[in-house]
Amino acid sequence: PATAPQSTAFELRTEVILRKKTVGECLGFEGSRVRISAWGAGIVSPRMMPVVGVVLAAGQGTRMKSALPKVLHDVCGLSMVEWVVSAMRKGGVQRIVVVVGNGSELVRDRLAGAGVEFVEQTERLGTGHAVMMAVPALEGHHGLTIISAGDTPLLQSSTIEDLVQKCSQGGVSASLSTAVLDDPSGYGRIVRDAGGAFVGIKEEATCTPEERAIKEWNPGLYCFRNTELLDCLPRLRNDHNPKGEYFLTDVLGDLVAQGKRVEASVAPDPVQFSGVNNRWQLSEVGLAKKMEILRAHAENGVTIVDPASTHIEAGVEIAPDVVVHPNTVLSGTTTIGEGSEVGPNSWVKSSRIGRDCRVFMSHLDQAVMRDGSRCGPFANLRPHADLGEGVKVGNFVEIKNATVGRKTSISHLTYIGDASVGEETNIGAGTITCNYDGFEKFRTTIGDRSFVGSNSTLIAPVTIADDAFVAAGSVIDKDVPSGAMAIGRGKQENKEGWCTRWRLRKQAQKA
Ligand code: UD1
Ligand code: CA
Repeated sequence: PATAPQSTAFELRTEVILRKKTVGECLGFEGSRVRISAWGAGIVSPRMMPVVGVVLAAGQGTRMKSALPKVLHDVCGLSMVEWVVSAMRKGGVQRIVVVVGNGSELVRDRLAGAGVEFVEQTERLGTGHAVMMAVPALEGHHGLTIISAGDTPLLQSSTIEDLVQKCSQGGVSASLSTAVLDDPSGYGRIVRDAGGAFVGIKEEATCTPEERAIKEWNPGLYCFRNTELLDCLPRLRNDHNPKGEYFLTDVLGDLVAQGKRVEASVAPDPVQFSGVNNRWQLSEVGLAKKMEILRAHAENGVTIVDPASTHIEAGVEIAPDVVVHPNTVLSGTTTIGEGSEVGPNSWVKSSRIGRDCRVFMSHLDQAVMRDGSRCGPFANLRPHADLGEGVKVGNFVEIKNATVGRKTSISHLTYIGDASVGEETNIGAGTITCNYDGFEKFRTTIGDRSFVGSNSTLIAPVTIADDAFVAAGSVIDKDVPSGAMAIGRGKQENKEGWCTRWRLRKQAQKA
């Protein structure tokens, strides 16, 4: 049993091992668990208890005024509920049960790859009721249960680790984080006795005027000994409040009333408990999260010239000595190599940018730029554009589903789609690959060291071999062999004296 007394030797040995690792790492570390239970003569260390997380995500979020379930709204590239799940994982929680209800199919879809379990709450009868729905998933679990709302995306894993550690102490039945606010209107109040010991949580609707004046409030993050939680849940009532809800918070008062110990302590950084109920709170939490992300990159050696106008999503990886200029959005799975500069005014989505690249005022979507390549201003690199090392892509160039060999230049006003372009080739201004006939797409192949003169129209499927030359203004619909010059345009004719005669005639008519 978790509350069994422990021998001193046992405590000493567990300390030695735990100091080297986080609780989470230890929990996944079979070897030390086996050794500890041997030293403890059959007593399982409370610190080694498995932790299950329950995320409450069934609520409707009416004030979001959205067709999307509240917990799926995006905060810097992850939905709110994904942030909570991720904080739990980092905090050492092994199994996670998500209580879904409103828009449950969408929530299940979004979390499909997250390795979590789901339970359904079909009616919204309060937080206590939501946890009751998770009981079948919690039965037989001899360890700790962490419960959090799904709409607090700033939650920190260190707070979870701290609650787990507090609840693991001998004789503690539950632990919770609290915070202090001058005006905690709307939140449950933390009630303590004259000696400061935790007594219970009073929901605002059931507060006396004195209780209402309490400034310490309940952010809604708890850790329970699971067996004690399961023991209390059936005793919850819903006839003591105007909305007829089952309050999870009543469990804590119930434990204290039974003479059990509940550790309630003010957590550092109360901003982490910011819950999102409307779109403006979503923006505020998004800003805080964004600053957290930018700061982490800055600490890692990335220059963020203007944090206010820079947005970087959670999944982006940036190497040291990268400079991100103002008005830049980096999203999805974008990666950027050392020494590169991005922006100003750029939007890079799930693209791979190598070392020493330059991206000026451009839009990239699932594109690849290899080391030393550059693009912009006003380049549009669409899915599967792949620029080789040292490639130059200039203004008003669109590239889609095309590879461009190293050191090739495509400097102005060009569309390259469904193409392979070789190395050290020059694509003149205004070159267009005509890849689409309204029904099907066709490929254009251009070899190494070739030259495509300005304003050429390349009608795919067509191949221009290595070392070939296309004269400016050509319409090319036949393959050009290696070393050849292709010219496909109307012949120029000069009519001697024609203009002089024409002007004289016009001037005479005017006089
Ligand atoms: C709850 C706490 C309150 C605390 C506040 C912090 C209770 C009774 N009160 O308030 O002390 O200060 O959180 O924000 O717990 N949910 C469900 N099913 C339900 C009801 C809620 O899944 O039937 C989920 C919601 O989606 C949300 C979370 O539980 O993620 C909290 O619900 P919410 O209604 O915001 O909390 P309150 O009851 O107002
Ligand atoms: Ca509520």
